[in-house]
Formats: sequence, structure tokens, C-alpha cells
Amino acid sequence: MILDIVTYPNPILKKISKPVERFDKELHKLLDDMYETMLKAEGVGLAGIQVGVDRRVLIIDIGDKEGKQSPQTRIEVINPEFLEWEGTQRGKEGCLSIPEYYDEVERYGRVKVKFFDRYGKEHIVDADGLLAVAFQHETDHLDGKLFVERLDYIRRKKFEKEWKKRLKNQKKQKKG
Ligand code: CO
Repeated sequence: MILDIVTYPNPILKKISKPVERFDKELHKLLDDMYETMLKAEGVGLAGIQVGVDRRVLIIDIGDKEGKQSPQTRIEVINPEFLEWEGTQRGKEGCLSIPEYYDEVERYGRVKVKFFDRYGKEHIVDADGLLAVAFQHETDHLDGKLFVERLDYIRRKKFEKEWKKRLKNQKKQKKG
């Protein structure tokens, strides 16, 4: 089932998500629906709160070497916790909750993350590059944080200006 994606500036996105306690059918259904929703929206990551569920659940699928996404490249991440982080990297990011806006963010270059899969089995993953960015971006969502809050001052101002303009135009379109 395709779910509705919550977009900025909906205050739901600021909520801090609570840990998952039950690895049950309901969780599996949520993960399945989130994956379907993420693929349809052509994203590489999606957090529970983006579909209005304030639980520490997220999905990442950066695809294979050609960028092709499939259940084999999908990572289901529950109750993630960073064990190690080092270095830095800068790259353009986007977010399904801030459609069609991309800008450069600084992130850790490499992270080591502990998390659980849908069956409650523990995993530890060492990630760098885009995968490391995805883990950081999506985990931020669980703490109510969006990538635009990590932009440097000038980029942040540019975003706010452009978004205001966009919301205004949307209102006009609805009226007209
Ligand atoms: Co996002």
C-alpha cells in the first residue's frame, strides 16, 4: 500500500520517534508499505515519521553499482545506534519530505551502525560514501531533524526564501 509522505513544514517531522518494541506483523506491514512508497517516490531512503509513524524505523536502498534498487539491496533499519563515526564528506542531499530541493551538506565520512532487522536480529554495518550519508540522513529524521537544518547559514537562508516562495505559489494555484 502506498502511504502519504508528510512534507515540510508539517510539525510532525519535528517529532522524536520512539523505539520499536514489537517485531510483529504490524511492523512488517509498515516496512513493506514504506518500501513501496519509497520506490514510487523514487527515493533512496525513508523514515517512519515521513509517513506519520513516530517509531525508530527506516529503510535505505541506494541500489547496486548501477543504482538498481531491489529487495536484495534494501536495508531495513530498526532502533539504529551509531557506534563509531569518523572523517567528513560533503555532498548534495535531497529528501522526500522536501521535494525537489537539493543542497550540499557536511556529514561524517564513515560510520559504524548497530540496528535490528524486522525479525529483531541484530546487525552491525560499516558504511562510507552514499550509504554512510543515508544512515545519517535517515537517523536524523528519527530525531526530528531535516537535512536543511544542517546547511550552512547562507544555504539555509536561500532554502527558506525559496520554500516560502513555493508555498505561496501553491496557495495561488489552489485559489486560481
Ligand atoms: Co529525508
